[in-house]
Amino acid sequence: MTQLNIGTVVGSIRKASINARIADALERLAPPSVAFHRIRIDDLPLYNQDLDNPPVAEVHRLRQEVRSADGIIFVTPEYNRSIPGVLKNAIDHASRPHREGAWVGKPAGVIGATPGALGTAPAQQHLRNVLACLGMPTLAQPDAFIHVDEGFFSAEGLVARGADRDFLTRWMAHYVEWVRKHAPAR
Ligand code: FNR
Repeated sequence: MTQLNIGTVVGSIRKASINARIADALERLAPPSVAFHRIRIDDLPLYNQDLDNPPVAEVHRLRQEVRSADGIIFVTPEYNRSIPGVLKNAIDHASRPHREGAWVGKPAGVIGATPGALGTAPAQQHLRNVLACLGMPTLAQPDAFIHVDEGFFSAEGLVARGADRDFLTRWMAHYVEWVRKHAPAR
């Protein structure tokens, strides 16, 4: 598998999301052999098992996009020491129908940004539990608990400091290696 197709799910749907900016940075810093697709989650209905099958168009699209990815990166904020509801909603949608979930076997990377001191570590721990339940082999190290302080982004919204860019580049290199090792044959 030379070219990788990675789906990125951002757990915040607000326009000025710092997590969306981290996702942008990861995409810029990745090797050229990796193509990215941002998986949309802001137009999904609230999950309702009555509507599992057939799915509405937006849910069908989500499941297809997950299925066609070689791996998935979750870039998420922390809400009240856990993951945002919009992210869990998307995860639940693509986990159905039972035994036919789209996430199964997709190598995952977890990263999160917050202005808070804990760098989304508690939320990532919750997310890792969910991904284990879905059968997603998830990169363990390096941890990526991004504390966004005042100088983290430039006025243009780019990662301002070389050390932060280096960290994200290294994290991405580890993740790409992880996907190459664990991605199911398609
Ligand atoms: C937060 N925030 C937050 N931060 C944190 O480090 N731990 C937390 O538990 C929470 N809880 C929380 C709950 C809710 C409902 C909101 C709206 C926010 C702050 C959060 O990290 C900050 O708003 C980020 O900027 C959100 O990420 P995006 O939207 O910028 O990607």
